[in-house]
Amino acid sequence: MNKRLFLLSMRACTLLLLMMAQAACSDKGDGPRPDTEPPEEQPGPSILKEKANFGIGAAIKTAHLAELAYANTVKSHFSQVTAEWEMKMELIWSSATGYNWSNADRVVDFAKDNDLEVHGHTLVWYKSFPGWFKNAGYDSTAFEDRVRAYIQTTVGRYKGRVKSWDVANEIFNDNGTLRSTDCPVFATFNDPIGFYGRCFKYAHEADPDAKLFYNDYSVVLASAKRSAIKRMVSRFKNEGIPIHGIGDQFHYRVTTDKNTIKNGLTDMASTGLLIHLSELDIIVNVQQSESYAFTQAEAQKQADMYRFIVESYESLPADQKFAITTWGVTDKYTWLTDYWHAKEYPLLFDQHYQEKEAYRGFLAGLKNN
Ligand code: XIL
Repeated sequence: MNKRLFLLSMRACTLLLLMMAQAACSDKGDGPRPDTEPPEEQPGPSILKEKANFGIGAAIKTAHLAELAYANTVKSHFSQVTAEWEMKMELIWSSATGYNWSNADRVVDFAKDNDLEVHGHTLVWYKSFPGWFKNAGYDSTAFEDRVRAYIQTTVGRYKGRVKSWDVANEIFNDNGTLRSTDCPVFATFNDPIGFYGRCFKYAHEADPDAKLFYNDYSVVLASAKRSAIKRMVSRFKNEGIPIHGIGDQFHYRVTTDKNTIKNGLTDMASTGLLIHLSELDIIVNVQQSESYAFTQAEAQKQADMYRFIVESYESLPADQKFAITTWGVTDKYTWLTDYWHAKEYPLLFDQHYQEKEAYRGFLAGLKNN
């Protein structure tokens, strides 16, 4: 072997020894890391709709869409929209022979232009029968004929564009009895559930591909209401009535009991139907105090609740996770300001459309893709 060859092979041996020593060190977790180690794991997507394996919805109002920050926030973070009130019966059904589609169309067009899905809310709700309808004094046959026409015209108009509908909203009391106060359906039919079942059929006839939901509040909290819903679902299944999902509105508070939420959700899912958290917002000012301050600590409590709710939802069977919809976009506009009569901060974006701790809590609750 000549001298040059000898020196080269010596250098190769040293290099080999060095590499073996380095590998041994890094196996033990100490010492310098070799250049070949894969880079640190990248953090997952940080936008809700990109990280979630189910729909991320927001209730919207067309009046706010002209505000650029509002429209951009919806487009960037959400994958579906619900009309907060512009697709309710009293808004659309202006007279016995007339429909006013202008705002409902704007919601559906906005969604189409921006590649968002639409969840329709809501076909039959005791609070949303128009005044002219309630005053007409219809018997059960005339009542049902007209409601059938309303459902078929509305669902038919948006066939293929509105992918899912709340067919009936809030028909039970928390104790499981049927709502009777101010409910035109209860006042007209001997078997109100039979009527609601036929409403599901009418919607299905108008758009066989649309997913049809029953929607209510406190479903996970009120076990008697939940049992009544489950009995209705069993009856519908026995009678071949197309129901695909149940929505719980989820207007809850930072103080709502977490175990009750988790157990209630599991019980809802025992129906095997799609589950929608359909109107999520989390009240922080639980005392409804004029002097309430939304501090960092309060924001953190709210974020923890959002995270818990999303984690609980994630633990449901994958094929039952339909969507989580927040009831609004920004704390600047929340229905709770009128309804709750106290300053509220219930949503994921603050007045200036900045992501809140609540947003980060929601994101942290999502499973990694
Ligand atoms: C509320 C809207 O947020 C308000 O803007 C509107 O004035 C009244 O209705 N449960 C429901 C929703 O199913 O339709 C309600 O939305 C909130 C409670």
